[in-house]
Amino acid sequence: MADAHITVHTAAGIDRIEPEVHGHFSEHLGRCIYDGVWQSDSADEDGFREDVVSLLSDLEVPVLRWPGGCFADDYHWEDGVGPQEERPRRRNLFWAQGTEELPEESNAFGTDEFLELCERIGTEPYLAANVGSGDPQEAADWVEYCNYDGDTELADRRRENGHEEPYGVKYWGLGNENWGCGGQMTPEQYARKYRQFATYVGTMDNLMLDHEIERIACGFEGHEWNRRFLEEVNGSAWGAEFPLDHLTLHHYYGRTMNVSEADEDQYDQLLVEALEMEDHIERMAAAINAVATTRDIGVIIDEWGTWHPEATADNGLEQPGTVLDALSAAAVLDIFNDHSDVVTMTNIAQTVNVLQCLVETDGDDAWARPTYRVFDMYAPHKGSEAVQTSVEAPTRELTDDDRELPLVGASASVDDDEAYVTVTNLDCRETHTIDVNLEGMSLEADDVDAELLFEDHDPAVEADADNAAEFTAEDLDVSIDNGSLIAELPASTVAGISIE
Ligand code: AHR
Repeated sequence: MADAHITVHTAAGIDRIEPEVHGHFSEHLGRCIYDGVWQSDSADEDGFREDVVSLLSDLEVPVLRWPGGCFADDYHWEDGVGPQEERPRRRNLFWAQGTEELPEESNAFGTDEFLELCERIGTEPYLAANVGSGDPQEAADWVEYCNYDGDTELADRRRENGHEEPYGVKYWGLGNENWGCGGQMTPEQYARKYRQFATYVGTMDNLMLDHEIERIACGFEGHEWNRRFLEEVNGSAWGAEFPLDHLTLHHYYGRTMNVSEADEDQYDQLLVEALEMEDHIERMAAAINAVATTRDIGVIIDEWGTWHPEATADNGLEQPGTVLDALSAAAVLDIFNDHSDVVTMTNIAQTVNVLQCLVETDGDDAWARPTYRVFDMYAPHKGSEAVQTSVEAPTRELTDDDRELPLVGASASVDDDEAYVTVTNLDCRETHTIDVNLEGMSLEADDVDAELLFEDHDPAVEADADNAAEFTAEDLDVSIDNGSLIAELPASTVAGISIE
């Protein structure tokens, strides 16, 4: 007998799920770049790790943000182009490049290496320009170096550095956490600086490029900050145009629980914190709607995921890759689907070795973490139309406060005559039986193909080079009763169900 009832309102479309919602974030931090994607023992002759590139290509990563993070607002892009031996060694104000290194940056991996990485894995680049310690000219020069096809010194420099054609970088972040590591600015201070940067970059886009750039500002989890920022950016003294295509925020959770030692109450707490993503998206969209009445501005979550106490500056923000973290990613991806009308991109932190990375390396080994398996299972949603889903399921109250965890979550999308439903049993203690009713579709067993992740895995168990393959999806048994689909989801599992 089912205790969780899922109704997919197949005719109640929300919006297209932009593929960029499955994006990633990489920073010059710990072993993300050096030893992660580049320049290690298993690198090819150009310095790229083939094993990592292959894992990321298989996942069809749609967009990759770089070079930070906090690092971006102390990074000067010209340090990282041209002959490797002439590149200056600089401080890395925020992070060491490895677990036993000094906070220094060799600049061996720079713009052309990053953009080649994007070409190799088939992903759209998203560059974050330095607003905190840089100036608008530096940002505009970077755009020119990357994207201009004319006869200027910067365009020629790109050609000399091996790239004849412009890269056509579309996504440009102007600043990172400028309320914090990016300069500790008030919203008004950041808005004025942002406007200045956006003017230079935007004018170049209008006059020298093919209107190909989308400008991105970095907001805050405190939503009053965002409202003040938007009002100042839009101040009438500055002219009518709203020089902003997307506003971002960062949401990390799990900061108080060591994931490898947590108990079941803490599991519940982590998942409730992850689900707060929904409130952040809705409040961000409300602030945008209240102020930006003349144009559409998308919501981006360009850093998100778990950040446990195991991840410290000394260990390069490394933490175990567990099923529990993967479950939280599934819950958050469902939220992104349900808000596809406003969410234009997200970037989980960080791609390799750092925080809730999808890929981990150790010497010559590289493997997919459980969160990678979740992204893989959710991949069929990319580019489809999200539709509304109702879930009636039991909840559990947290032990420390009166917040409640819904024990089953779901989201759905449709594409032509096919539907795809993802369902997560967020209950780390018990099996739940689901029934799924797709409005307007009477199901038969032959129409359904279903897979399950993480059956029989302890939520806290850590993936490593030896056991990583055990976290792949297995077939899920489903039955059809009265046109509804019935399945049993064991504790802490994620299901992907295709219906033709
Ligand atoms: O992802 C690690 C750090 O978290 C980033 O550098 C910063 O933007 C955020 O605070």
